[in-house]
Amino acid sequence: MSMRTKGSPGQKEIGVLASGRGSNFQALIDAARSGYFPATIARLITDNPEAYAIKRAKDAGIPVSVLDFGSFPGKGEYETALGKEMEACDPDLFVLAGYMRILPSAIVKAFPGRIMNIHPALLPSFPGLRAQQQALEYGVKVSGCTVHFVDEGTDTGPIIIQRCIPVEEEDDEETLAARILVEEHRVLTEAVRLFLEERIRIVGRRVVIR
Ligand code: GRF
Repeated sequence: MSMRTKGSPGQKEIGVLASGRGSNFQALIDAARSGYFPATIARLITDNPEAYAIKRAKDAGIPVSVLDFGSFPGKGEYETALGKEMEACDPDLFVLAGYMRILPSAIVKAFPGRIMNIHPALLPSFPGLRAQQQALEYGVKVSGCTVHFVDEGTDTGPIIIQRCIPVEEEDDEETLAARILVEEHRVLTEAVRLFLEERIRIVGRRVVIR
């Protein structure tokens, strides 16, 4: 599959979905601002009206759509609204930066190869929630983070970049998560840059980078 990009070089747009603290979102804001990648962040979409990511967006002058999950009658209604919001935004790339819900297949199908996610473990190990805790409980000696395209599974899409970090004997969930997070910020911005520079191709399950 080849990547669709719209607009001329230098005018690409990213949309971000985030549910909480938004440190990965901040890394994207900083990367866009410094010119590390050739795009502007068109919009933040969040399911959580309390998300600190909203403040980060406002400070950076980025428009925000708050779709308060709790205010919808059910998941279906929320997902319909989310799909409409994403269609209206229609950037070159959506980045899930700590977005804590699974996208429904209708949304995934609407943006083929145009949604990326950051996950705090070396997939396919430890998908889903509390990946760092899962890694500690399993007893792995190495963990890390993965940037991947989103498909219809949970953290199962084609892998773009992975980075390893050692698990130390004294690590707990918090210390391990903090060290992984430093790498998350690096690999996420790097993957977005590769995408925007049109250096990424998806071949079956494999991501080929030139
Ligand atoms: C990150 O560890 C991300 O990988 C996971 O949730 C966390 C979000 O952190 N999906 P932040 O909101 O980007 O600070």
